[in-house]
Amino acid sequence: MSTPRTVAVVLAGGIGVRVGLGIPKQLIKIAGKAIVEHTLEALDASPHIDEIIIMMNAAAIGELDHLLDNDRFAKLTRILPGGETRNDTTQLAIAAIDGDETKVLFHDAVRPFIDDRIIEDCVRALDEYDAVDTAIPSADTIIQVDGNRLITGIPDRSMLRRGQTPQAFRLATIRRAYEIAADDPGFKATDDCGVVFTYLPEVPIYVVDGTAENMKVTEPIDVHIADKLFQLQSASLSLESTTAVPDLSGKSVVVFGGSYGIGESIVDQARQAGAIVSEFSRSTTGTDIKSAKAVRRALADVHENVGRIDVVIVTAGVLRIAPLVESPKRDLKDTIEVNLIAPALVAREAHPYLAETAGQVLLFTSSSYTRGRAGYSAYSATKAGIVNLTQALAEEWEPSRVRINCINPQRTNTPMRTQAFGEEPLDSLLDPADVARVTLNVAASELTGQIVTVQVAAMRGAGNRA
Ligand code: CTP
Repeated sequence: MSTPRTVAVVLAGGIGVRVGLGIPKQLIKIAGKAIVEHTLEALDASPHIDEIIIMMNAAAIGELDHLLDNDRFAKLTRILPGGETRNDTTQLAIAAIDGDETKVLFHDAVRPFIDDRIIEDCVRALDEYDAVDTAIPSADTIIQVDGNRLITGIPDRSMLRRGQTPQAFRLATIRRAYEIAADDPGFKATDDCGVVFTYLPEVPIYVVDGTAENMKVTEPIDVHIADKLFQLQSASLSLESTTAVPDLSGKSVVVFGGSYGIGESIVDQARQAGAIVSEFSRSTTGTDIKSAKAVRRALADVHENVGRIDVVIVTAGVLRIAPLVESPKRDLKDTIEVNLIAPALVAREAHPYLAETAGQVLLFTSSSYTRGRAGYSAYSATKAGIVNLTQALAEEWEPSRVRINCINPQRTNTPMRTQAFGEEPLDSLLDPADVARVTLNVAASELTGQIVTVQVAAMRGAGNRA
């Protein structure tokens, strides 16, 4: 018997009333991409999936047309309109797929953190079972209540699970369950395993382990949590990639502010990794990045001499410690110009060149972006601005395939820091070479719109492992 096909159905027929953002929640942008695109990426990359079908909210179906046009998702074959309810959407999908033996995975579009382990477990479980659910233990005690808000039962928590997706079936089984359900006037369900459980009680439903990350974006707070989880994902990229600098042979890398500290380390390591590095700073080339003209000239020169620009990194920055009321206006202006306006100018001037190479801009923020710090209010404010700039440009630049990310190094042993804070215990500081290595790994990645945090503890952990 030939191996049955595995089809992933992305359920995107809903509206997302509870998130309340006025667009179908599967289209909300997180980390530079619509949530459904993140979900598609995970499914498309899985060796266990042969084909993907999206069931999209009919009123917004045109919003995803572009996903079929390019070759980003090789396995995506169709985008079909969803139904009134989630179960209607499932039934429309069932009608669009053939083969009784086909393995079908129904997955919520708004669970973008599905991982390949879960997919593999579901697909393999279908060799033995005709129906499979994904679930995690419940941390909360689940109580049952009546209409008067009185507890009527407290089931044993150890036997309870919280259902997620994928829910996976042999096609004939789920089709049959819905056929029987169609004759029940009182039909009510919120998921697909529930339909099999009620109408085909003789069919065992096996449960594979989900993950806490495989959350469903449902309430407004979930958008924030998902944003943070994407950030953590890229942090783990920085952790895993600390041992080596990727091969940058033939890449044209431009560094603004590369004369000392992190910038200098980036220049050195990028050269060693085979890149053609062009470095600009006030002290070495007399380039003032506050001047759009100077930036424009620098980039035009590189483009003319090297023929291309793949990565533009801005490490220039100023940090002055003083309470706001004691800061002269010119210091304030300088901080904002160097730390925020200049990176925006560089990004603007670099974009046309990077559009030719599907290249990337890399900016630097600081941990003070999450909460302003007394003593360096203007600096904190510019660093928060850099994060928003990164996220906004990742969205603006998606059509041109230019990426932009931002590195958030914890305290780093640089001349700028020593000047501002004096001598600090060395083991509490990051080595600029480590930050440079992470930066170049991000430069070589497909990430966009990410804030990649580099932590002392994480680098130590990586060092210990090596
Ligand atoms: N879904 C679907 N067809 C529907 C309703 C929901 O395919 N008619 C999908 C959603 O797009 C989502 C998944 O089922 O990916 C989980 O449903 P839920 O979180 O309830 O999504 P919404 O119905 O969009 O949310 P809300 O109830 O807040 O409107």
